[in-house]
This record gives sequence, structure tokens and C-alpha cells, in this order.
Amino acid sequence: MLSQSMTDALNKQINWEMYSSNLYLQMSSWCAFKGLDGCAEFLNEHANEERMHMQKLLAYVNETGGLAILGQIDAPPTQFESVKDVFEKTFHHEQLVTAKINELVHQASTEKDYATLQFLQWYVAEQHQEEFLFKSILDKIEMIGTQGQGIFFIDREVGQMLTQKTQESTAMTTAQNGDVGTA
Ligand code: FEO
Repeated sequence: MLSQSMTDALNKQINWEMYSSNLYLQMSSWCAFKGLDGCAEFLNEHANEERMHMQKLLAYVNETGGLAILGQIDAPPTQFESVKDVFEKTFHHEQLVTAKINELVHQASTEKDYATLQFLQWYVAEQHQEEFLFKSILDKIEMIGTQGQGIFFIDREVGQMLTQKTQESTAMTTAQNGDVGTA
């Protein structure tokens, strides 16, 4: 059973995840507008992942006797200076989300809410992966450069990262299903 303070904190995180989803969807739209189809697809898929993060939290709150609440969500920014600006903002946003998850972990630990502490471990690992992912895109942008055909190659690289991610996730699902089948 969740305390009211833990329920409130998890509901705030639901809001953050929905904002993240809208932010990445808006960034995807900006990229599509600029003809950056690889980046647009990548960010659209990431917006879907953020929605999944929100739904996972929502299900947990409801399963543990709390009322999950969808609050008002701020509108994301609509204009960006460049593709580098977009991915710098995604990286900084993920660092902010990591700080929010860390605060939740601290609260669950302080309240001796070990079920929530355990539940949040998935988000701790996910944030590590997401910061790594966006940092690696920024590193690529730095390496390739945005002059001349640089933008074309960056867009292609980011689009390929999505394909690679999809293949890895399909392989993981297949392996998991295989494990179930042989258990
Ligand atoms: Fe759900 Fe990218 O944080």
C-alpha cells in the first residue's frame, strides 16, 4: 500500500514521463519539418517509449492502492536552433529525469517502502541507458560535424541507431519467449 506522499511523488513522475513523450514528439515533428527523416523516426519511437514509462508507473500506482492522476502537462518548446540543439536538449532532459528518479528512490528508501524501491530499479537502469544513448548521439554529431553533408550523415546514423535498437529489442523478446518455452 502506497503512502499518500509516495503516491503524490509517483504521480508527479507520471507527469514528467508524459511531458518527455510530448517533448520528443514535438522534436520529431521539428526534424520532419526540416527533412531530417532519420532523426524524426528515432525521436517518434522515443516518444512512444516515454509513454510506456508513464503507463508502467500508472499501472504500479493503481496496483498498489493509489489513484494514478494525469495532471496538466506543459507545452514543449517548438523551435530549435539545429539538430545539435535538439540532441543537447534531449541529453539535458534525460539528466533532469534521472535526478527525479533518484529523488523517488531516496523517498522510497526513507519511507522504507521496499516494494517501490524495487519497482524503481527498472527506471534507474533505464535512465543509465538513456543518458548513454543521447550522449553517444551527441558524440557522433561532434565527430561528423554539421557542415556540408554532415547533416545528411548524422540523420542517416541516427536513423540506423533506431533500426539497430529495434533489432536488439526483437532479439531480446525472442530470447525471453524462448526462455519461457524451455522453462
Ligand atoms: Fe522516461 Fe527518458 O525518461
